[in-house]
Amino acid sequence: MAIERTFAIVKPDAVQAGHIGEIVTAIEQSGLKVVGLKLTCLTPALCQGFYHEHVGKGFYAELEAFMCEGPVVLMVLEGEGAILRWRELMGATNPAQAADGSLRQRFGTHIGRNATHGSDKPESAKFEVSYFFSAFEQQ
Ligand code: RTP
Ligand code: MG
Repeated sequence: MAIERTFAIVKPDAVQAGHIGEIVTAIEQSGLKVVGLKLTCLTPALCQGFYHEHVGKGFYAELEAFMCEGPVVLMVLEGEGAILRWRELMGATNPAQAADGSLRQRFGTHIGRNATHGSDKPESAKFEVSYFFSAFEQQ
């Protein structure tokens, strides 16, 4: 399998609840490497550009309000098959359906507050990494 880069967010619920360290630890213990990392707050305009595929959907307003309610941790992760591995580590979108031990099962509370984000395919990963990280912000 090829070495890939993917994009990850520790969402505002998990930052507020003090789970940054546990989530970064789970990433590192899985063998994925953190090659970019920063803490910031999203604005509605940034969120609209990032989640452009969801703008106009019924849940979008709630998603934007949530993503802008507090600080987030943005990361670039690297490893063999990183995109799928990070999605598996996170678990299903809905924490109620996420596998035991997955991050969304451990730290998410419902579908709209699910602790983490991960790119879903190579094209998304490329777009999302470059949306938030310049070349010199990644190792
Ligand atoms: P994400 O992009 O945040 O990693 O989540 P995902 O791929 O697992 O799910 P996606 O379909 O891309 O949805 C983005 C986020 O929107 C919220 N959502 N709410 N109420 C709903 O029916 C609903 N559907 C999606 C979730 O917070 C999801 O993470
Ligand atoms: Mg998604």
